[in-house]
Amino acid sequence: MKKKILLFADVGIDDIVALIYAYLSDDIELVGVVADYGNVPRERAIQTANYLMTYVPEEKRFPIIGGAQIPMTAEEPTFYPEIHGEYGLGPIIPEVLSDTTENFFEIVNIIKQYDGELTVVSIGRLTSLASMYLLYPDLMDSVKDIYVMGGAFWVPGNVTAVSEANFYSDPIAARIVMNYANNLTIIPLNVTDFAIVTPQMVDYIDSKGKTELLKPLLDYYYAYYKERNPEIQGSPVHDAITLMAPLYEDMFTFKELQVYIETTEGHVNQGQSITDIRPYIKFENGVRKHRIAFGFDYKTFYNRFMTVMTGEAFD
Ligand code: BDR
Ligand code: CA
Repeated sequence: MKKKILLFADVGIDDIVALIYAYLSDDIELVGVVADYGNVPRERAIQTANYLMTYVPEEKRFPIIGGAQIPMTAEEPTFYPEIHGEYGLGPIIPEVLSDTTENFFEIVNIIKQYDGELTVVSIGRLTSLASMYLLYPDLMDSVKDIYVMGGAFWVPGNVTAVSEANFYSDPIAARIVMNYANNLTIIPLNVTDFAIVTPQMVDYIDSKGKTELLKPLLDYYYAYYKERNPEIQGSPVHDAITLMAPLYEDMFTFKELQVYIETTEGHVNQGQSITDIRPYIKFENGVRKHRIAFGFDYKTFYNRFMTVMTGEAFD
């Protein structure tokens, strides 16, 4: 049976790679995408999600929901056109821009409709998802499981020395989700920084013709990463590997630990995700723990990613 997934995304390049993976996969049914500020402003995130829909086969189209516009910190968000492009599409500017109707509470109907069988995957800032916990805690308990791309546990961050972008940009929202979500799995930079798609993989996927979008997007994204770190071998597809996690749990190694998010604004460790990995530490009864991915098998990731993106069997 296909996994029914409600996706919360900040619609940058790696979010779109995840979306392409989702609509090419026979194992995923996207039941909605919540388009949030983050990599680009909310308005553009919604417009880009609508633009993307022109590439999605009719039978696989899904509702697009306008998410949050600003973080719970009340700070003005910072956007990242140098990584993701003006519209989250690298060099592509959509010719026709959709309207940006406010329909946030459609999320409630979607969660009710798929009562008990819905997987939530969050691959952007956590503001919208945290808002659901503030407003609908009981309803959120009916979600089967939740996967979040975020955090960096005792490894370097990507937006500061210690913090990952999704947690850093709204640490209050991240903390709300950590404190209230059940059945939560976190896919942090510890894993996603190594989910690399090389230029050779991109060219091969492109030659197979299943998606014409992937190459312009990942060429743009890779140029940024390569300039920042000339050693890097390809693009880290943070969000695609997170979307794959509910399907391929066997690809990861996990630990169950309590998570703390530093919310002090402007502090050197704003948004840092902390967990106690000392082997002799005993957690008190009743402490809320989450599953954190600390490792994954690259070969499995490669085979499963390439199979979906090319339509050929890799194993
Ligand atoms: C995460 O931050 C966003 O910019 C990316 O799309 C990804 O979800 C990586 O830190
Ligand atoms: Ca993202």
